[in-house]
Amino acid sequence: MRFSVGLGKDGAEKRLEQNGVSRRDFMKFCATTAAVMGMGPAFAPQVAEALTQKRRPSVVYLHLAECTGCSEAVLRTVSPYIDALILDTISLDYHETLMAAAGHAAEEALHEAVNSPEGFVCVVEGGVPTADHGVYGKVAGKSMLEIVEEIVPKAAATICIGTCASYGGVQAAAPNPTKAMGVSKALGGVTTVNLPGCPPNPYNFVGAVVHYLTKGVPELDSGGRPYIFYGESVHDNCPRLKHFNRDEYATSFTSEEARKGYCLYELGCKGPDTYNNCPKVKFNQTNWPVEAGHPCIGCSEPNFWDEMSPFYKPW
Ligand code: SF4
Ligand code: F3S
Repeated sequence: MRFSVGLGKDGAEKRLEQNGVSRRDFMKFCATTAAVMGMGPAFAPQVAEALTQKRRPSVVYLHLAECTGCSEAVLRTVSPYIDALILDTISLDYHETLMAAAGHAAEEALHEAVNSPEGFVCVVEGGVPTADHGVYGKVAGKSMLEIVEEIVPKAAATICIGTCASYGGVQAAAPNPTKAMGVSKALGGVTTVNLPGCPPNPYNFVGAVVHYLTKGVPELDSGGRPYIFYGESVHDNCPRLKHFNRDEYATSFTSEEARKGYCLYELGCKGPDTYNNCPKVKFNQTNWPVEAGHPCIGCSEPNFWDEMSPFYKPW
C-alpha cells in the first residue's frame, strides 16, 4: 500500500520514522483507527492522508480543573506511538503541559494561535469552576471560565477530552463547592465534541481528530458524545455477557466464580448503563477494566461520581 499526499520521504513519513513509527506500524494504526470509526479497511488510506497532510491543523489545548490523566493516557500509549503521530499530525501551538515556552512567551503563543486567520481547533481537558465568577481556577491571572468564554467561541470545533471537560468529572462531585461543570454547560449549551472517560481511550481522540479532518464533526448523542465511539453500552459487547444471561455472577473478587470469569454485576458493574467502546477498543490494545476483573464504574457517563456510586454495590 502506498502512502498518499504529503507522505514522501522528505515529508511526514520521514518525520514519523524519526519518531520511531515505521510505515508498517503506521498503516496498522490507520486500519485500527478506521475500524474504531466504524469504517472498513478501505478507509485506512484516507486516515493516512488525513494524518499526514501538509497543512497541519492548529490546535490550542487548554488545561482546566483536572489531573492531566487524559494527556498522560495519550502520551503513555505504547505501539504504534499515538503520541508521536498526534504531535506530528497536528500543529500543537499551545499545550500548558508539553510546551517549552512559559510565562509571557506562552501567553503570546496562545494569542497568536487564537487570532491566526487559518483558524484552530480547541481541545479542552478539565472541568470549568464557575462559582463566584470562576475564581477557584486561574491560569495567567484569568479564570478558567474567562478563558473558555474567550477561546471556545473562536474555535472551528471544540473537543472535550475526558469526563471532566465533558461533564465536570470529579470536581463536580457533590457537594461541588466550586460549581465545576463541563465546557458546554458552562458556556450555556455550546456544541462540543465530548470524549468522556476517566481517562478516555486515546483511539477515540485520534478517531475524533481524523473524523473532523475527513468528514467534519461526527454525529453526537444528547450528551455530545460521537455515536461512532459511544453508540453501544459496555454491557452490549462484554465478553462476560453470556454469564449475565445465565445468571452466573461473581459475588466476591476472590471467589471461584470470579476466577471463572463470571459476570461482575453483583460486584457493582455499571456496564449495562454505560456507553463506551472499551470492550471493542481496549486500552493500549491490551485490556480494559472488566476483562481485568474490575467492574465498570461508568466513568464515561455524566456525573458518574455521584450517579454511579456506590461503585462496588449493585443497584
Ligand atoms: Fe454486563 Fe458488567 Fe456483567 Fe459485563 S461484567 S456482562 S458489562 S454487568
Ligand atoms: Fe470506564 Fe467502564 Fe470503560 S469504567 S474505562 S467506561 S469499562
